[in-house]
Amino acid sequence: MTMDIFTPMEKILVVGSSGQIGTELVAELRKQFGQTNVVASDLKPADADQLALGPYEQLDALDKDRLFAVVKQHGITQIYLLAALLSATAEKNPMFAWKLNMESLFHVLELAREKHIKKIYWPSSIAVFGTTTPQENTPQFTVIEPATVYGISKQAGERWCEWYFHKHGVDTRSLRYPGLIGWKSAPGGGTTDYAVHIYHEALKSRKYTSFLKQGTTLPMMYMPDAIRATIQIMESPAEKIKIRGAYNLAGMSFAPEEIAASIQKHIPDFQISYAPDFRQAIADSWPKSIDDTEARNHWGWKPEFDLEKMTTDMLVNLKNLYAKV
Ligand code: NAD
Ligand code: SER
Repeated sequence: MTMDIFTPMEKILVVGSSGQIGTELVAELRKQFGQTNVVASDLKPADADQLALGPYEQLDALDKDRLFAVVKQHGITQIYLLAALLSATAEKNPMFAWKLNMESLFHVLELAREKHIKKIYWPSSIAVFGTTTPQENTPQFTVIEPATVYGISKQAGERWCEWYFHKHGVDTRSLRYPGLIGWKSAPGGGTTDYAVHIYHEALKSRKYTSFLKQGTTLPMMYMPDAIRATIQIMESPAEKIKIRGAYNLAGMSFAPEEIAASIQKHIPDFQISYAPDFRQAIADSWPKSIDDTEARNHWGWKPEFDLEKMTTDMLVNLKNLYAKV
């Protein structure tokens, strides 16, 4: 893979850094680009542990003046914007979800249009797809009629990113993440969160009640693959990024009973039961599997983890984590 040369002048700001993705992304960015070149930021003040790891700013993504001040103070050149309400939380608070998900994006896009920053990463989601989209091997370019507030905000965000790129030359990069699964951080209000909770409960109580029913196959990805894809698309030469809305990205697909079966290979007495709630309708509107040919062809994307490899890694790491508590 060819990477842009990361000059010492580059400084990265991660907005919404304390969440499921931000926790892992900040750590990896600091490993690759230097501790002091990556500024973490989120709503709450940093605790002593966070401050020891590198620069941190308390920042509300809706506060454009403060965002601008942080960008100037640290000489920021790239922003990874992760602050958002996810699918399940957004359905409960639609107006605020729309405000947060859209206004935060506009603030960052405007900073780039005004040439205060050079590059933006903003994640989209499989939630852009809706019930009228082909559900198997969903192509990059297809019918996009999202059924959720979250999905509508991601679809609109994609279109705005593309518009800022074509109209103002803003360097925007985006991925339609599947459901993300990791052991280092907790998920924050999504429909795919069950696939994280199930590992914790398997180790703690040997049983789990899934809020999605049997047979609900969804596209998923292990966090190390997602972090690698994120940094890879950001570091790829601009001419390789031919899609400025957002790229389809695939890792694996499974239903609750399949993740349970893969856990049972390690914990034979683990049991799953089902009590579907409002998140079932959200999941039913999403694809079962994703065709990510364009990401593979344009900038060399290739996932490393399948379900069995992920389960082994999750259980080893969570066991170690619980042993320390
Ligand atoms: P998360 O909910 O775990 O983290 C979001 C973070 O943003 C939290 O730490 C929260 O405190 C912070 N935040 C909320 N409002 C803020 C504000 N006004 N100002 C600053 N920070 C604020 O979410 P995540 O899973 O890390 O997702 C990050 C991004 O990735 C989101 O755009 C989400 O839509 C997208 N995404 C995530 C997944 C997934 O499975 N996790 C899948 C697809 C897309
Ligand atoms: N994992 C996310 C969610 O469930 C998908 O964007 O909301």
